[in-house]
Amino acid sequence: MCGIIGFTGKLEAQDILLDGLEKLEYRGYDSAGIAYFKENKGKISTRKTAGKVKDLRAICDDNESTCGIGHTRWATHGGVTNANAHPHKCGNVALIHNGIIENYHELVSSYDLGKDLISETDTEVAAALFNKLYDGENPIEAIKKAVPLFKGSFAFCIMFKNKPGIIYAVRNVSPMVAATCEEGSFIASDLTAFIQYSKKYFIVPEYTILTMTESGITLTDLDGTNVEPEFLEVNWDITAAQKDGYPTFMLKEINEQPDAITRTITPRIADGLPDFSADNIPDSLFENCRDITIVACGTAMYAGMVGKSLMQEMLGIPVTVAIASEFRYEHPVITEDSLVIVVSQSGETIDTLEALRLAKTRTQKTLAIVNVKGSTIARESNYVLYTHAGPEIAVASTKAYTVQTAAFYLIACKLGLIQDKISKDEAHEFIGNLQNVSNNITEVLKLSENVERLTKRMLNASNTFFIGRGIDYTLSMEGALKLKEISYIHAEAYAAGELKHGTIALISEGVPVIALATQSHVYSKVISNIREVKARGAYVILLSMDENITDSSICDTFISLPKVPDRFAIFEAVIILQMIAYFTSVGKGLNADQPRNLAKSVTVE
Ligand code: G6P
Repeated sequence: MCGIIGFTGKLEAQDILLDGLEKLEYRGYDSAGIAYFKENKGKISTRKTAGKVKDLRAICDDNESTCGIGHTRWATHGGVTNANAHPHKCGNVALIHNGIIENYHELVSSYDLGKDLISETDTEVAAALFNKLYDGENPIEAIKKAVPLFKGSFAFCIMFKNKPGIIYAVRNVSPMVAATCEEGSFIASDLTAFIQYSKKYFIVPEYTILTMTESGITLTDLDGTNVEPEFLEVNWDITAAQKDGYPTFMLKEINEQPDAITRTITPRIADGLPDFSADNIPDSLFENCRDITIVACGTAMYAGMVGKSLMQEMLGIPVTVAIASEFRYEHPVITEDSLVIVVSQSGETIDTLEALRLAKTRTQKTLAIVNVKGSTIARESNYVLYTHAGPEIAVASTKAYTVQTAAFYLIACKLGLIQDKISKDEAHEFIGNLQNVSNNITEVLKLSENVERLTKRMLNASNTFFIGRGIDYTLSMEGALKLKEISYIHAEAYAAGELKHGTIALISEGVPVIALATQSHVYSKVISNIREVKARGAYVILLSMDENITDSSICDTFISLPKVPDRFAIFEAVIILQMIAYFTSVGKGLNADQPRNLAKSVTVE
């Protein structure tokens, strides 16, 4: 959470910082600020405000510097106020921070920093400590002394008043990438902030101090030894991180799903069968695997729920899904024969990362399904299967979910073959169906006007329910999450058969119920459950492949999905659920890309 950027070079820094912050805003948008060397001399000026980057832009007028740092905040310590906005200045130091300094209280008392503080943030304590340890000559020595004192996660960009033109940076856990090019040196939480200047970049190694100047970046570890960065190159450009004519990133990303799925599955299919050799994932990972635990957060966890439902049925082995923030504390049963699959779009979610670290102490069979190349989870997992969704900017995840789910379908098929649970012919048919998913989604996307129309009914709702059985229930959870996060309407997912044990008491006249009925083996049962809510006055929106159930005793609105084998229906149904959430949000006049209180990359526990 929080987005940070730094630039020193030949161009005006202010525009680079503000443009970069706009691209990082998905990481947090409570407040924003910049600091720069006034007229490139030994004076640091700051501009900061509660609000978004556009509010910051409105108070920035000073184009006189080619070196500065910028921050967009997701509040953790201290409310959303101007004083708590970054950068924080103390004496000779100005800095920005992503992460949490857990021991900031102890640092205040041990180093007598209290008198220097004007905000409620942990970050300002760090600024005060760097300032206290700075001898006025050697910033690197101050950083070397301060860094081992911090407990928690941090990515810092620091400027020292009497070192104009230089930015220092150091991190632990919280992500930072950096690059040098013709225009100067860049550093940011994420590449999107500077990709228009450089496609070649490196991941800042942990506990390494960067010294950034106009002419380049040097790296030294805490013992003073030089470190050589490992350069990576991205295969997408800035247009992938722009709205490309769509009114919002979310709508663009919903529409990108057919291509994203094709990009993700095609390199993993050889002769009609799953093949992970290009990912360096050996078959041995799937041999002797007696149980599977899937760990993730948010939408990634709901993709894992689909994976569980599919794999347990296809393989007949126990599959558990754990919420990453609970996993470490629930005494997970993981043995050396367990396969642990962690799922993360960003590859930086701290709870998922910590869950992976714990899992690795028990098994070497860890596999990460990750979208962001080179991210921490991707680097630390024994094996990684990259999804190729391209950058996902909208806070509410859409295309990442469908590509993660597609990855589970490939894994399930591979496991089924290796463990002799399915025949080659069945696998060919399964993969053929997976290859059709993109075209089916393209058909479903054409229903957007119908979906937009039906959401008019949702705009005034204060409670909604999503119901289904089996894999449809797992999908209901994702549908409910999507609606609540971007429309602020209370939405609850329920296993359709469980409603009558309590929740049905909440169904009254006109309450919208989004019902999923795509699975034939539980079809008649779910239809009975839908009748139960309809009989109590619910306004039922039904998604099914069966066109014969449009009867008004079952539903008020029917959405017909293209006919596909049951297991593949979820790819179609989720597009409708995403569109219901999206059009409800937009219909209410909300910002679907940046819902309140949320951030895309959750790097605090
Ligand atoms: C946040 C985002 C969600 C995402 C979740 C997990 O809550 O808003 O969209 O599903 O984090 O993120 P990850 O990057 O690990 O998939």
